[in-house]
Amino acid sequence: MTSVPMFRIPRPFDMHTHLRQGPLMRLVTRLTARHFDGAIVMPNTNPPILTGEDACRYQSDIMRSARGANASFLPLTLIKLTMETTPDIIIQAKKLGVVAAKMYPVGVTTNSADGVDLDKLRELYPTFKAMEDTGVILCIHGEVGGDVFVLDREEFFFEYLRQLHRDFPTLRIVLEHITTKAAVDLVRNLGKTVAASITLHHLFLTLNNVLCDPVGAGEFLRPHHACRPYAKRPEDRDALVRAAISGDPKFFWGTDSAPHPFDKKEADCCAAGVWTTPVALPLLVELFEKHEALERLAGFSSQFGLAFYGIKRRTRMLTMVKRAWTVPLAYDVRNGAKFVTKIVPFRAGQKISWKVARY
Ligand code: NCD
Ligand code: ZN
Repeated sequence: MTSVPMFRIPRPFDMHTHLRQGPLMRLVTRLTARHFDGAIVMPNTNPPILTGEDACRYQSDIMRSARGANASFLPLTLIKLTMETTPDIIIQAKKLGVVAAKMYPVGVTTNSADGVDLDKLRELYPTFKAMEDTGVILCIHGEVGGDVFVLDREEFFFEYLRQLHRDFPTLRIVLEHITTKAAVDLVRNLGKTVAASITLHHLFLTLNNVLCDPVGAGEFLRPHHACRPYAKRPEDRDALVRAAISGDPKFFWGTDSAPHPFDKKEADCCAAGVWTTPVALPLLVELFEKHEALERLAGFSSQFGLAFYGIKRRTRMLTMVKRAWTVPLAYDVRNGAKFVTKIVPFRAGQKISWKVARY
């Protein structure tokens, strides 16, 4: 009998994910908890997570959902910054254990209509100061909105990042889900209080995979590859891969796994988000194996993010095994026995070579 390649890694910590609410949350949380030790959970729910109390309630709901899959799963729920977020809200949230707050510029992504008006960024300076003083991390969706050409929106945001870093040099900032070589270069050149998360899908996709995939097959527009910020050029994707496998602790993994009901994705004005949870870790292993960088996987997928956040964990190990499996076409969301909707994973129907052996 030939032996199947297998190896053990620390369970990854997802530094950016969306777990949603209700029955969708229960399914997605269970699947996340099987593969991940914990996650930074984004607050763009409906209604949003705006205060420390909201974050604590949301965290308890998630923990209850995770229990059957991984009782030690640690969801760290963030609060969402709006123009109404006061320094006092930050101080209270910090007391309740909130580690970070997320800034969405108005209208740039899912549920961001109540986001931050970049023209009035200075009005929030007392709030940023409170974050800097209390050590609450600023997570940023780094895109501008308005009429700016959609592929330039990340780069147009850089001036705001530079401004915040200059005015609050000890505020820890995470530029989330970067998509360009320019963003990699910028983050690398800014001070050590600035880091970036990189998603799973931006390590694989370019804009071609959104607009005409499979390339050359005469089939176009893949709503399940549509997300904010959009995947960009091949050279951008390659720069993200290089940053991920480089061992530079400024770059860490945040899947930005963002499920939406299938009929919101397969629709005119489709929702933005790629749902990668069930395939994220196996595909990341595939990628690091291809680049002969498996020894740097643990840094990117757990250690660097935890270190930036200052989170200490006695992380349990996970066994990966090389055994091909086919990704389901969809996962049913149920409320008890009642079918609610389905969600379509990244790489639906395709074969993947690595598998998580034991949870
Ligand atoms: C995310 C979502 O659906 O909540 N969508 C996305 O395309 N990434 C929000 C976000 O992180 O931008
Ligand atoms: Zn996100």
